[in-house]
Amino acid sequence: MLGKIEKIDVSSMPSLQKLAESVGWNFTTERLHIYLSLGTMFGHRLHNEWISSAALFQYGTTIASIGSVIVHANYQGQGLGRSIMKRCLYEVERVGVPVSLVATSAGVPLYQSLGFQTVEFIHRFTHTHFVYEPIECKQVEIEQLREKKHITEIIHFDKMVFGANRSELLHHLMKKRSIGFIARNAEKSICGFGIAFPVGNFLHIGPLMADHTDIALQLIQAFLCQSAIPVRIDVPSRQSDFMRALCQLGFQETLVSPLMLLYAQQLPGKRNRLFGIADPALG
Ligand SMILES: CC(C)(COP(=O)(O)OP(=O)(O)OC[C@H]1O[C@@H](n2cnc3c(N)ncnc32)[C@H](O)[C@@H]1OP(=O)(O)O)[C@@H](O)C(=O)NCCC(=O)NCCS
Repeated sequence: MLGKIEKIDVSSMPSLQKLAESVGWNFTTERLHIYLSLGTMFGHRLHNEWISSAALFQYGTTIASIGSVIVHANYQGQGLGRSIMKRCLYEVERVGVPVSLVATSAGVPLYQSLGFQTVEFIHRFTHTHFVYEPIECKQVEIEQLREKKHITEIIHFDKMVFGANRSELLHHLMKKRSIGFIARNAEKSICGFGIAFPVGNFLHIGPLMADHTDIALQLIQAFLCQSAIPVRIDVPSRQSDFMRALCQLGFQETLVSPLMLLYAQQLPGKRNRLFGIADPALG
């Protein structure tokens, strides 16, 4: 067996970035910092370089998420992917928590053989130009998100929709380079919010949560007005009306990936109010 499995720490960022590049992925330092702060990352190390990685994020005992499963291009097909996945599953089995992941086509056979089942799909939409037809949907008031002012409301809304407390993640996402909006109804209560964060050349919108499709669209338009770079969002397949409206706004679907689940038949929370996931790795 090549190398042994160890926990990955913050000092490993350059080696992890090289590992990601070997499979054509790009890990920004900020994203890796979030993964390493919020989750546990494991990997195989050989000659002081990481040749595999997997990140595990646990949200209490409700749900966990696995992401960043990578085996260096030179070491694939030798069992490293299976063994790194088994290491992550050992952790969740101790707590008895269901686990989700967003799979690439390369990963699907491995995950299926470990018992994961596809429960829905995640559709990536990108918007690369800045001329769009605004859709008339002025139902709610939109306000710029401020961490200190809004964090408590956001944590509560996110918990209702996602089904688990992600306060630590939300605090991280609202730090410096992110932008966000909160929607309020006539009673001034929160009825939606979105946070966006630069990832590579894109502004990634997610999480995006709202009581209705129209509110989610109003939030999307706020991001489009604010962003100086192309925008992207990962939408769960159940939001078909929303996806049709995104196409009218000039978005294009660029990727469809299965969302797979182990030890549960369905995801927790009020997922019909989830319009954009936070990140494929984070859930
Ligand atoms: C997906 C990935 C992690 C698998 O890692 P790996 O070390 O090559 O996988 P393993 O050698 O442990 O093989 C696990 C299973 O994958 C499948 N598999 C591996 N190599 C394969 C190949 N060349 N062709 C078809 N299936 C293959 C088999 O089902 C295998 O099952 P087996 O153990 O019964 O033979 C690796 O290909 C990778 O890093 N790909 C790029 C990044 C990526 O897409 N990651 C998944 C994110 S969700």
